[in-house]
Amino acid sequence: MALLTILTYPDPRLHTVAKPVAVVDERIRQLIADMTETMYDAKGIGLAATQVDVHERVIVIDVSEEHNQPLALINPVIEWASSDRIKGEEGCLSVPGIYDGVERAHQVRVSALDPDGQPITIEAEGLESICLQHEIDHLQGKVFVEHLSFLKRTRIRSKILKAQRESQR
Ligand code: NI
Repeated sequence: MALLTILTYPDPRLHTVAKPVAVVDERIRQLIADMTETMYDAKGIGLAATQVDVHERVIVIDVSEEHNQPLALINPVIEWASSDRIKGEEGCLSVPGIYDGVERAHQVRVSALDPDGQPITIEAEGLESICLQHEIDHLQGKVFVEHLSFLKRTRIRSKILKAQRESQR
């Protein structure tokens, strides 16, 4: 396994729309293994392939308290979302140090393929639902800060760019 480099907002590659995975093979299973290791190493609860500069529809999440229940989804599609909304404080491994409230569907039903290429359906609510929507957004080239106001997004962008400049000194 290998740790992958996570792209940092506002890297334009984060806005790439991922392509569906055509064949679930060893290459995809290796990508999932590497993404899972990278997510745990970075202490995240979700990671989309887009964030490691692979533009194919693959996400991994683990919202368990023990961080021992990884879930990998290939070609995930939100089949249904509740009209019932929930607002959670979100962060993102691609937007280090920034947390803000985003309103999303409280419950979702997601269909996908598992790492064996078998169809699966996930019914999720609360944190898991938020996490799935956040990661599937990444595959559409959307970072959570794009749910925030333009003013907040501008502030976040300049804060991160400033931190990057300072770390390069
Ligand atoms: Ni994210």
